[in-house]
Amino acid sequence: MNKKIGIEQLRSRKWFMNPDNPEMTALYLERYLNYGLTRAELQSGKPIIAIAQTGSDLSPCNRHHLELTKRVRDGIIAAGGTCIEVPVHPIQETGKRPTAMLDRNLAYLSLVETLFGYPLDGVVLNIGCDKTTPALLMAAATVNIPAIALSVGPMLNGWFKGERTGSGTIVWKAREMLAAGEIDNDGFMDLVASSAPSVGYCNTMGTATTMNSLAEALGMQLPGAAAIPAPYRERGQISYETGKRIVEMVWEDLRPSDIMTREAFENAIVINSAIGGSTNAPIHLNGIARHLGVPLNNDDWQKIGHDVPLLVNLQPAGEYLGEDYQHAGGVPAVVGELIDAKLLPHPNAITANGKSMGDNCGENRSEDIRVIKPVSDPLKAQAGFINLTGNLFDSALMKTSVISPAFRQTYLSNPDDPNAFEGRAIVFDGPEDFHHRIDDPSENIDENCILFMRGAGPKGYPGGAEVVNMRPPAYLLKKGVEALPCVGDGRQSGTSGSPSILNASPEAADGGGLAILQTGDRVRIDLNKCTADMLVPLDELAERARKLLAEGGYAIPDSQTPWQSLFREKVGRFDQGMTLEGAADYT
Ligand code: FES
Ligand code: MG
Repeated sequence: MNKKIGIEQLRSRKWFMNPDNPEMTALYLERYLNYGLTRAELQSGKPIIAIAQTGSDLSPCNRHHLELTKRVRDGIIAAGGTCIEVPVHPIQETGKRPTAMLDRNLAYLSLVETLFGYPLDGVVLNIGCDKTTPALLMAAATVNIPAIALSVGPMLNGWFKGERTGSGTIVWKAREMLAAGEIDNDGFMDLVASSAPSVGYCNTMGTATTMNSLAEALGMQLPGAAAIPAPYRERGQISYETGKRIVEMVWEDLRPSDIMTREAFENAIVINSAIGGSTNAPIHLNGIARHLGVPLNNDDWQKIGHDVPLLVNLQPAGEYLGEDYQHAGGVPAVVGELIDAKLLPHPNAITANGKSMGDNCGENRSEDIRVIKPVSDPLKAQAGFINLTGNLFDSALMKTSVISPAFRQTYLSNPDDPNAFEGRAIVFDGPEDFHHRIDDPSENIDENCILFMRGAGPKGYPGGAEVVNMRPPAYLLKKGVEALPCVGDGRQSGTSGSPSILNASPEAADGGGLAILQTGDRVRIDLNKCTADMLVPLDELAERARKLLAEGGYAIPDSQTPWQSLFREKVGRFDQGMTLEGAADYT
């Protein structure tokens, strides 16, 4: 250990050992004794480590942290620290209405106040369910005290009649089986529930596995800590090691700003492509970077990430699930394969254990090439995102690797205009409007239409809805048209593999061009030039914009809670991380 600070520099000393102010010291101290902590634990120079607890009955994905925390405590005490468990505002991805994304910034804000305002020297971040990971990393970035993340780990693989059933993705299949009469309503519930066989987070490569892998890719977890399934013994063991390590990090004064550098984010973008990460990842990583003062935008995602091959064969893009990812070597194997192929831009980036990414993972390789492919034989050659721009929005992302052969044939194979298409816009104002109108024959939706979803961004549908991947009308599905091009200012679930153009920024409710698009307009999408434009004369667009302004702007539904309205006042754009404007100044 490279000890950089002594007892006198511990942050908690300002509370518990202030020689100039014994009165305040006594006041700060006495209440922490009332449940059995001793004065020696608080005053003899032991670092006081917070465990940011996201596990609770309300957050089943992270609930196993309540057990793991016992091992974290053991590690903290073994390394000479004192432990204080602190509650974090609960976030449950599938249970929270209108969306858990609304609560990411709320959990962030409250954890910043907790870490800043109390006598804490370092923190273990209990990450897992989708938004818990970015919320906690953002808070650590702002307060910038030594911090280490600990995944709760994915659930075991789901199984049903000999086949793997994965979180989220099984719902799509179960719907088809129900519609075809192969299962009844009870069968539907049983099939979906089979994908959740144990404690832990989603076992597919959705936003949870993505963000937990990226927390490791950024260097904020111990190597190998992301992929170990929640019930495995190694999960408890790495919890103990994480507890030990955070105490050392306090003495080394190793802070989030030392680990999450621009280089670390560039590594994470590459690793996100290689694992087939969720389209929610750019929102979260751009947000974490903003809270560190590290410049990062969607152009970086295209430049650094687009040409990286897909190596990890997990559902929804592939076949396997979380336990298989672990058996194949997890994040260290992916990183090792990338380093071997010279595709990891910064192997020297420092990580939470004090060593570099290259030192930790340089020798690791896939232990099952069915699940983690080598770079020489990838699942897809280019797995990253492209960043589109035009008069509809400044920035929107598309995962080009999930474009199906049928979709490519229909929309992208005109020899005179390769990789581009034009279509007639069908515009929906939010998910309710979509469900109401999509099957209405008077809309005249056909193969030459592009479906648009607006009013689904951070302000429009507070937090942003995962609704951009819209199905075609039932009468087109019956004809065999499985997908229409979709564009929108909302998000898409990480468990869906649709090639939508999403996270459009600025959103309609924030003055974006989508607000003045009308059903029937011609729109041109060019994937070579990375553009998306309404083919409408400029004076007509100006007139529409003037009219909308006179009407008071794009209409959004009323807020239902105080936080929703505060959030809408302060929140920024998806491409800038959906952070609270002003909050990023506290770096
Ligand atoms: Fe919590 Fe997927 S719903 S991890
Ligand atoms: Mg989600």
